[in-house]
Amino acid sequence: MLAVAIDRETIRKFDVAGPRYTSYPTAPVWSDEVHERVYIERLKVFGQSEKVLSLYIHIPFCRTLCAYCGCNVIVRKQDDKYADEYLSCLFKEMDLVAQYIGRKKTIRQLHWGGGTPTYLSEKQIERLFQKTAEVFNVDLKGEIAIEIDPRTATKEKIDRLRALGFNRLSMGIQDLDPNVQKAVNREQPYEMIGDLYAYCRQAGFRSINFDLIYGLPFQTTESFSRTVSRVIGLKPDRIALYSFALVPWLKKHQKKIDEATLPPSDVKLDIFLQARSQLLDAGYQAIAMDHFALEGDELAKAFREGGLYRNFMGYTVKPADEYIGLGLTSISFLEDIYAHNHKALPEYYRLLRAGMLPVERGKILSMDDRIRQWTIGALMCRFRIDKNEFKKKFETSFDGYFTEEQAHIGRCVKDGLMKVDGETVEATELGKIFIRNICMGFDRYLRKQDAPGRFSRTV
Ligand SMILES: C[S@@+](CC[C@H](N)C(=O)[O-])C[C@H]1O[C@@H](n2cnc3c(N)ncnc32)[C@H](O)[C@@H]1O
Ligand code: SF4
Repeated sequence: MLAVAIDRETIRKFDVAGPRYTSYPTAPVWSDEVHERVYIERLKVFGQSEKVLSLYIHIPFCRTLCAYCGCNVIVRKQDDKYADEYLSCLFKEMDLVAQYIGRKKTIRQLHWGGGTPTYLSEKQIERLFQKTAEVFNVDLKGEIAIEIDPRTATKEKIDRLRALGFNRLSMGIQDLDPNVQKAVNREQPYEMIGDLYAYCRQAGFRSINFDLIYGLPFQTTESFSRTVSRVIGLKPDRIALYSFALVPWLKKHQKKIDEATLPPSDVKLDIFLQARSQLLDAGYQAIAMDHFALEGDELAKAFREGGLYRNFMGYTVKPADEYIGLGLTSISFLEDIYAHNHKALPEYYRLLRAGMLPVERGKILSMDDRIRQWTIGALMCRFRIDKNEFKKKFETSFDGYFTEEQAHIGRCVKDGLMKVDGETVEATELGKIFIRNICMGFDRYLRKQDAPGRFSRTV
């Protein structure tokens, strides 16, 4: 049985293009107001504080390209020379960042993402970890996580990662149906995944996450329901159930996907709702927008207790004070700025070889940005806003500040997306599914004539 009944008319109404709010303000409104000098100033201020750090490291390489991929990737056949060249510049970036910070900071959360971090050889994995541990204090009791691709994660690499101190991993599964896998150029049999998963469990990782995507070519409610059943059978601690983001104007290779093979939006939503109810029935708790965790998992507990946070690494229980991203296309959030690294590899290499930090653009947040950032964050992580908490934090009343937004809140209440109860504004069960639509009403930049670029659809 589905948890929420949704008809086609509702889907049509709410299926609009909208941001996923991994940041606010969203990346399309960033500009060159943030450049190397601005970033260096913030690194220095951070260095003078006692604040701790979340560090993200981006490894952009993949051996082959998955047709649906929306990540920042560079396709290279397996050859150590590509990653060796990349690591040499990444180490320069790490040294520069550490030099401007001016002291050895503690990393509470370390995350390697991509692309494919397991594109690195065992030796390269070891070198990168050791370099990080030389430059920073890596808190081995913190979250040390890596995204792995089952096709490139050998058992030897898993052993090496565990021995170094990695305690969490996230596996790209997407879909287990052979027809879907073939259509998206990502063939990885269930047996191989099951075998690797058992090995990782035995190796003692504290938490294992699976990434799934709904809305891919040739998916049907039945086929994806089989995928979800098999995933449930393996019992990963967490599952990210992503909506396929089709953005061919940003990711040219997605143009190769024949749209006639994609499930229409009502079927896509059915696939999601079916998967969601299977996961809930199996004891997973729905966490914020698109994550699920076993009831005993610390993420589920934090969500129940209102202690969940979101950054570019996803949802987290233990937010560090500041967030630094290293590598091609990485994003940092320091003090009051977002800083975004260059996307083109030659430029990234050129700047670092010249001794410069490869910052391309970003955003300096105004007070209004920070207030809306907090509000959208509360909706994405907790599905609710406590007006008293808002007042305490910003010394102004929620209703007084958001006068223009009252009409949006009223519409959301009328549409059954939100309810207002005394001092709290809360998403309903329906509103939780369309949380991006609710957040969009608080996004000041979407209202402007020159509203930022195009986004994927909310369904
Ligand atoms: C960097 S990848 C994970 C690591 C590794 N590259 C892999 O694919 O196994 C991060 C995740 O983003 C998700 N993803 C990639 N492209 C997407 C898209 N267009 N829409 C929704 N999710 C997407 C996938 O679930 C993928 O596992
Ligand atoms: S989904 Fe993962 S493996 Fe596939 S192209 Fe994207 S980053 Fe690479």
